[in-house]
Amino acid sequence: MNTHLKETVLITGASSGIGYELGREFAQHGHDLVIVAAIQPELLDVASRLSAEYGVSVKPIVADLRSELAADDIYAEVAASGLSVQILVNNAGLGRRGRFWEISLEDDISMIRLNIEAGVRLTKRFLPAMLSNRRGRILNTATVAGFEPGPMQAVYHATKAFVLSWSESLATELENTGVTLTVLCPELADTEFFEKDDRVDTRVPQEGDVMAQQEIAATAYAALMKGERMLVPGALTNALSFSRRLMPESLQAKMNEKVYAETDPAAHKREPGDVRAATEEHLEIVVKS
Ligand SMILES: NC(=O)c1ccc[n+]([C@@H]2O[C@H](COP(=O)([O-])OP(=O)(O)OC[C@H]3O[C@@H](n4cnc5c(N)ncnc54)[C@H](OP(=O)(O)O)[C@@H]3O)[C@@H](O)[C@H]2O)c1
Repeated sequence: MNTHLKETVLITGASSGIGYELGREFAQHGHDLVIVAAIQPELLDVASRLSAEYGVSVKPIVADLRSELAADDIYAEVAASGLSVQILVNNAGLGRRGRFWEISLEDDISMIRLNIEAGVRLTKRFLPAMLSNRRGRILNTATVAGFEPGPMQAVYHATKAFVLSWSESLATELENTGVTLTVLCPELADTEFFEKDDRVDTRVPQEGDVMAQQEIAATAYAALMKGERMLVPGALTNALSFSRRLMPESLQAKMNEKVYAETDPAAHKREPGDVRAATEEHLEIVVKS
């Protein structure tokens, strides 16, 4: 019997990409969901698809997590529904490509609000009940980019460095409380992320080791349920990201500046969605056979 069956999960950024696949993964394992995103039609569509496909209850909450009121509003809406959240997934995030002085202050601040502040606020709200019940799990989505400075993505890398440092510290404070924290550090996932932050033409998605978000979500679920502190999905990514941490930060910065450079469109080998679609097809073949 699945002992995690009745743990209700709140996932931010669940309308697309890694968050959507995490929702699917939790639903497949019988968890009821509260899913959060900013754009209503997509979120409502995901909620009805997941509940129809997996027979779990899915409550959508539309919220702009850049607002400092969002976490309180979400908490109040969850409480008013009589739900209690045992698993919190702070996943919503975005990046912005460009030199620091080319990006507006408003865009940088809204990224900081979404990538850092929203997770801190939601955790402040949902953690106390987990601690009183001595039962709970938190999954924070960071990235391997958080280990290194990233020219052309300077503020994005810094926001994820915050998520990593905060997560590692909190995971230690939580030892022996019955609550665990896992920080997820993917390298590249085939989501809408690169289209949104104008990186489709850069070396990162064109030449990098892009993973399907379905695989990332499956390994993240397993790591969270085992109470692991950190997951870098993919054996090669894990080894490379570990060895790169031994380099001086100035060298890491120079290397990353190159990977965010644009490439020749004629040499492109991937379109957004290719890796995700190929994995979906493979999974369908495996399920049918
Ligand atoms: N893709 C990668 O290569 C990669 C690698 C490492 C880490 N990550 C991290 O993974 C996380 C998910 O990214 P993804 O690649 O899955 O991107 P994605 O496909 O663009 O999904 C982002 C999700 O966040 C939600 N979101 C964005 N702004 C929001 C706001 N203001 N309020 C509420 N929700 C908001 C989006 O919903 P709306 O459309 O409604 O705004 C969407 O559901 C991010 O934290 C990202 O930094 C991504």
